[in-house]
Amino acid sequence: MNKRYWTGVLPVAVAVLPLLTLAVESRAQDEAPKPVKMSLAQARQTVSMLNDLYVTSVVGIHTTYVKDTQSVAAAAVARKVFEAMAKKGWPETRWIATTGRPFNPDSNPKDAFEKDAVVALKKGQARFERVVDGKLRVATLIPLVDKSCQMCHVKDKVGDPIGGLSYTVSLSGKTAK
Ligand code: HEC
Repeated sequence: MNKRYWTGVLPVAVAVLPLLTLAVESRAQDEAPKPVKMSLAQARQTVSMLNDLYVTSVVGIHTTYVKDTQSVAAAAVARKVFEAMAKKGWPETRWIATTGRPFNPDSNPKDAFEKDAVVALKKGQARFERVVDGKLRVATLIPLVDKSCQMCHVKDKVGDPIGGLSYTVSLSGKTAK
């Protein structure tokens, strides 16, 4: 190939590439995956697995990296993970506060299920669930684990049920009804 060929092709390639990238990106957005659907049994098991994974990660991040009140809270990192998972169509997860004075106002209970769940979690119930509109809703309890949490959660005592995780899983077939 001669030099003239390249001097002709290169500028065109340079001009077209960004357009191509844009097209691919917008297609990726159009094709955002639909929520993954599961049977009721699968949904329950998946929530148990996710809950173990999230709780272990939050405690691991907290004990490894959170040294003072300036540190990024493990709960904030987890929130980012929840958002990324939901974008991929995996079960939705969010923090819910039981105290009425959450760090993040978005963690106040949002609907009837979460309001009822908070009542149950405050009584010390570890897991509360219900099927609503074709979805399995589950809330699990997060107590104030130890003194190191009080660095920021200053008004709560060790062992207090300060919050929970609220899961929403789309159900498939008959279990959705
Ligand atoms: C460095 C300060 C800090 C420490 C230490 C800390 N948290 Fe938090 N916590 C936060 C912040 C900030 C949020 C809000 C995060 C968000 O939603 O982005 C939060 C949110 C939460 C929530 C959700 C309800 C709410 O208030 O928004 C729970 C539950 C929670 N933390 C539990 C714990 C537990 C259990 C520990 C100890 C293992 C702990 N936190 C340690 C700062 C902290």
